[in-house]
Amino acid sequence: MLTTPNLLYSTKSIHDFAAKFPGLVSFFKWFHGGKGSVPQADHIVTKDGSSEVSEPTRVFTKEELAKYKGENGGNIYLAVMGRVFDVTRGRDYYGPGGGYAFFSGVDGSRAFVTGNFKPEGLIDDITGLGSQDYIGLRDWLDFYMKDYEFIGKLQGLFYDAEGKETQYYHDAQQWIKEASDYKEDEDLFKEKYPMCNVEYKPEEGSRVWCSTKSGGIQRDWVGFPRSLYSADSKNIRCACAQEADLNDSLLKEYPNCPKDAVSCMLPK
Ligand code: HEM
Repeated sequence: MLTTPNLLYSTKSIHDFAAKFPGLVSFFKWFHGGKGSVPQADHIVTKDGSSEVSEPTRVFTKEELAKYKGENGGNIYLAVMGRVFDVTRGRDYYGPGGGYAFFSGVDGSRAFVTGNFKPEGLIDDITGLGSQDYIGLRDWLDFYMKDYEFIGKLQGLFYDAEGKETQYYHDAQQWIKEASDYKEDEDLFKEKYPMCNVEYKPEEGSRVWCSTKSGGIQRDWVGFPRSLYSADSKNIRCACAQEADLNDSLLKEYPNCPKDAVSCMLPK
């Protein structure tokens, strides 16, 4: 079901990073034509998308939810993966004229990760997204669970008219779990084989070398630079490998570089 991630980071983490830099706010305003202040975007990470918070019993129909767009000073509700949140206190973002008003009164889950904020993109169907997108959705849901009140469930793909979880709800949990497991494996792999430092000088060419924090991985070993091939041999990158892993068939020595060197010049 999952496709290989095509982005290095989820839209939620890119968003949180971007929102930390006031200079980017003008870019953001250009991006959405929005206005307001920087969000409190810390979030709880729940790997299976579950939560310990007690569940509300109110069930909304789509027509009912659509009434809560904050018009004439009224309440503002939105849904993410079928969970309805009261976002009235975020009126600057979600209220009429706000930069994120398109999320109000609907379940626009898919748009949180695709960035397609047109009516056809603001839908609850999250089928067939990439692994990174499911991580993004998990993070957005955690954000709303933490920052706003979970007030009800939306009758639709995720919950039935009684507010019971549908098969689609369980499928979605599974996609999120698979994506979270995949990311965990990927993170462990990055710790096992951190990237090398790289330097390029026109007169000498490229040099790769290992150090105790290359690839952003702080560690107590340095490692030896090797070419690391992906299992399908389509991607190659420089990795720092510890002595015990040097026989891994995914690793290849650099030509003209001694086995135990921590720095190698790459052929021009
Ligand atoms: C897929 C793309 C994006 C989505 C789904 C998204 C979603 C959101 C949401 C839902 C909020 C309100 C958060 C709250 O309730 O506290 C928000 C606020 C904000 N976002 Fe984004 N955003 C996206 C892209 C961006 C980008 C690219 C930037 C900046 C470069 C940005 C900067 C901001 C800022 C500064 C705020 C604070 C609100 C304001 O000043 O009006 N966002 N975003």
